[in-house]
Amino acid sequence: MPRRERVREELQPGGPLEPVHLPLVTPRMLLRTARPVDAQALATVLNDRSVSRPTLRMPYPYTLEHARRFATRNPVQVSSGEALSLLAFAREGGELLGGIALREFDWRDRRATLGYWIARRHWGKGLATEAVEAVCRAGFRQLHLHRIEAEVFSFNPASARVLGHVGFRLEGTRRQVARKGVRWVDSQIYGLLASEFQASARVPGR
Ligand SMILES: CC(C)(COP(=O)(O)OP(=O)(O)OC[C@H]1O[C@@H](n2cnc3c(N)ncnc32)[C@H](O)[C@@H]1OP(=O)(O)O)[C@@H](O)C(=O)NCCC(=O)NCCS
Repeated sequence: MPRRERVREELQPGGPLEPVHLPLVTPRMLLRTARPVDAQALATVLNDRSVSRPTLRMPYPYTLEHARRFATRNPVQVSSGEALSLLAFAREGGELLGGIALREFDWRDRRATLGYWIARRHWGKGLATEAVEAVCRAGFRQLHLHRIEAEVFSFNPASARVLGHVGFRLEGTRRQVARKGVRWVDSQIYGLLASEFQASARVPGR
């Protein structure tokens, strides 16, 4: 492994996310917090309707100013424990590939909510599955979460498939939960328990 990959980012001592060792390393990716230098790549990749439309929060158009604000805020979000929000970069070549976050932590019941995206030109290569697996592993093994949940719009079967690969189960439908253009759309809630994740070993080395 190149030396660069072994550099550990320090999370705030005593913060709730301190047990997570960053960067997370997967077979093809490094997952780390954003740096100011990432803003241009982030703005390029996220200013894409096909990436933002299926998400709950992403603005569109996504400007360089959005990206700069994210790059400034993101390390603070992570070190304060607000969200384990990471960008995914190719281990070979360093290209920005995607983003993933655990947020809405409920430490009493040890729950969190998962969201993610992958750059359009890299869809269909298994990258989301790889990132989701790595972040769920950190959530269950290092943060000792009991449950991780995700919400997927009904028009997003690819995302449902990613969750299925990692062991998430469909738990229910929120009807007409959001308006996309002129249409109201449903979403599906998926949940994964720590015990189910351990039982669904898929990626080598877990
Ligand atoms: C959803 C998303 C993250 C998937 O990323 P990805 O790296 O392409 O995902 P993976 O390659 O790991 O897996 C995608 C799976 O969906 C399948 N798939 C793709 N399009 C599909 C479709 N229209 N219908 C059914 N399955 C589909 C792929 O074949 C693959 O399944 P397989 O591994 O069994 O072949 C990506 O499309 C994306 O960023 N979308 C926009 C943002 C988004 O939707 N975020 C999630 C919000 S809940």
